[in-house]
Amino acid sequence: MKISIIGTGYVGLVTAACFAEKGHEVACVDLREDVVRKINSGIPTIHEPGLAELLARNSGKRLRATTSVVEAVSGTDISFICVGTPSHPDGSIDTSQVEKASRDIGAALKSKPGRHVVVVKSTVVPGTAAGIVLKALSESSGKSHPSGFGIASNPEFLREGSAVRDSMEPDRIVIGAEDEETRKAVAAVYEGMFGGKIISVNTRTAEMIKYANNSLLATLISFSNEIGDICESIEGVDAEEVLRAVTLDSRINPRRPDGSPLDPQIIGYLRAGCGYGGSCFPKDVSALISFSKKTGDEAALLSEVRRINSLRPGKIIERLKAAAGPLKGKKAAVLGTAFKQDTDDVRESPAVPLIRLLLAEGARVTATDPAALENTRRVFGDMISYADEPRDALKGAHMALVLTKWNDFSGIGPEEFRSLMAKPVLFDGRRIYDRKKYSEGIAYIGTGVR
Ligand code: UGA
Repeated sequence: MKISIIGTGYVGLVTAACFAEKGHEVACVDLREDVVRKINSGIPTIHEPGLAELLARNSGKRLRATTSVVEAVSGTDISFICVGTPSHPDGSIDTSQVEKASRDIGAALKSKPGRHVVVVKSTVVPGTAAGIVLKALSESSGKSHPSGFGIASNPEFLREGSAVRDSMEPDRIVIGAEDEETRKAVAAVYEGMFGGKIISVNTRTAEMIKYANNSLLATLISFSNEIGDICESIEGVDAEEVLRAVTLDSRINPRRPDGSPLDPQIIGYLRAGCGYGGSCFPKDVSALISFSKKTGDEAALLSEVRRINSLRPGKIIERLKAAAGPLKGKKAAVLGTAFKQDTDDVRESPAVPLIRLLLAEGARVTATDPAALENTRRVFGDMISYADEPRDALKGAHMALVLTKWNDFSGIGPEEFRSLMAKPVLFDGRRIYDRKKYSEGIAYIGTGVR
């Protein structure tokens, strides 16, 4: 099929590359000329495993980029809107880019014969495709819905760090449409090529599925952190043991034929830690809370999920102070600033508010991260120091905080913490160390355990 994709951020570029790899002809649009140039030369503009290979194979062939919406849309049958939906201060989403993309597509449709399908892939609250998008398209194209064009919602579930794999082998493909012809057109993009069960619903349901999905995962994280906090108050109880046993419930964790647990990925969200971050969970939970206020609902649980998450950094600082005394003038080594391992992304990373709190307490901070130092520098500039190697960060430190579950950190032995640090206080925010071994001569603080 001939497909146009508006917006080549994370979702747009990965989607475009995967569609091209599967044999579709894809035209991407981005306003930024340097981004367009790079895509056309096969150079990835984001850090994502496997993307460079896909671009190398498809750029200039089945995948091309342009700054002109008219050029891209006019030669295609179906357009995917993949622009950003950033948060307003009240948590609601800013749909201005979605609206502009819809208007631009509509303007291109004016002179394009035949019916066109417009699919919203950006994360938007229920009613956006059938509301703002439909209205903008009708007004700017002069065509009417559904005879002149169709609208659909096709949310994505890709994760940073495994976006290409998640897109090439999706577990499900949610297609929200308001009419059968449109549903068939979107299904034709995927059918027989991507695997994954197709779920056919209306556009509002598809939009809601995306929010419900991320909200569930964020809820599991806040639930685990609450259990962790309670465990920390009980002598001899470790949330790691408690939650591991819970995740062996075969309703959560089915068994293989040999009886061993399958350990599905969901159990990774059932661990006490530093709190959730990234560009999706915080934004989507807030958007759903804000949306529910407008519909007259309370979203009481999700409001608590968000509040529990926002309290994590403060709680961690209190525990550090209890172990290390006043932080003023002390050196803190922050191991891991990315919001999760295998990414360079620090957006909404728990490390950011934690570093701010450390600085507010008068501590000196040295941060280290295998991938995210450049992005960390953009946030903190010369307010903190940076170390390329974790062991350099530890030298002379009075406390070490492990905030991201990078493999690079798990190899640091207890003797290294003891010998490198001025005073070995270790906060293990991801529980990557053996508590017993790392408690010998080290003031070890683990999430979920006293
Ligand atoms: C998340 C969802 O997982 C994707 O399905 C969704 O498409 C995406 O948001 C989106 O809306 O675009 P992502 O933010 O890349 O993807 O990252 P996750 O791997 O889910 O991590 C989110 C948070 O959960 C992070 O803070 C991470 O540290 C935490 N997490 C992740 C865990 O606590 N345990 C895990 O096993 C995995």
